[in-house]
Amino acid sequence: MKLGLIGYPIAHSLSPWIHSKLMEQQQVNGRYELYEFNPDQFNQNVSNLKHSDIDGFNITVPYKEAIMPFLDELDVSAQQLGAVNTVKRTNQGWVGYNTDGTGFVDSLKNRYPDQLSGGTKVLLLGSGGAAKGIYHSLLTENLAVVDVANRTVQKAEELVRKNQTSIMSQPLSLEKAERDMGKYDVIIHTTTVGMSPHVDESLVSMHNMKKGCIVSDIVYRPMETRLLKEAKAQGAYLHFGHEMLLQQAVYAFKIWTGTNPNALKLLDEFEKKLKGV
Ligand code: ATR
Repeated sequence: MKLGLIGYPIAHSLSPWIHSKLMEQQQVNGRYELYEFNPDQFNQNVSNLKHSDIDGFNITVPYKEAIMPFLDELDVSAQQLGAVNTVKRTNQGWVGYNTDGTGFVDSLKNRYPDQLSGGTKVLLLGSGGAAKGIYHSLLTENLAVVDVANRTVQKAEELVRKNQTSIMSQPLSLEKAERDMGKYDVIIHTTTVGMSPHVDESLVSMHNMKKGCIVSDIVYRPMETRLLKEAKAQGAYLHFGHEMLLQQAVYAFKIWTGTNPNALKLLDEFEKKLKGV
């Protein structure tokens, strides 16, 4: 199979490593290559790719929306989010999917199987593209509350306006979220704050969180962000960004190949790779 990743810049992407391991695990013959397209050549390069024999690809920053005019069909996940991270070639042409949200939620459920249920109260930090996917997937779970806090509160308001479920959902400022953090069972950070090289930064203080809550950060470089370190010191259970990354890759691989790889089997090896051991 001919697979790959489109984005810019992507030289340090971990996707080729993950997909070569998945091919090995599932005994699929193929290659996963990087297509680092310059913004001024994006349209031409994608047109060329469309005439090639590529079977599927991932698409990342900054092209998750720009790819859409080239697609022939959209899965509901991509329609809902207006963004695509996985494309598969079929007899009908290119079909776009978005596995961001389900990848996140399922990786959280893999680690903490009983926590996303019943009366669970969730706080989502951030309102960008990543938050959007995660928010929509959270709304399909049986939860009591999913509040959204963002620096620009207006963007959090726009997000919660889309909620058509019976789950309670309020937009919050970051200050209010910090103050009221003790009422949440699960706290999910979705912005880029704290990402390497800005490892000393953290979007909010975790001072008021409830001991024993789950704190998740989608940032995976560094593996343990400042936010996660603070949360751990306060007695939180942690969920890491690389777990989401791996689960998303598994979903894309499943879409392309029809196989059912086991993400957990690869997790230890992936952690060693990230730690550089
Ligand atoms: P992506 O699509 O990768 O999620 P994005 O759409 O630019 O990226 O969203 C980035 C998110 O990180 C937003 O929630 C943004 O807050 P604003 O909506 O107020 O811009 C948040 N963010 C980025 N840098 C930030 C910073 N220095 N402080 C607070 N929030 C920040």
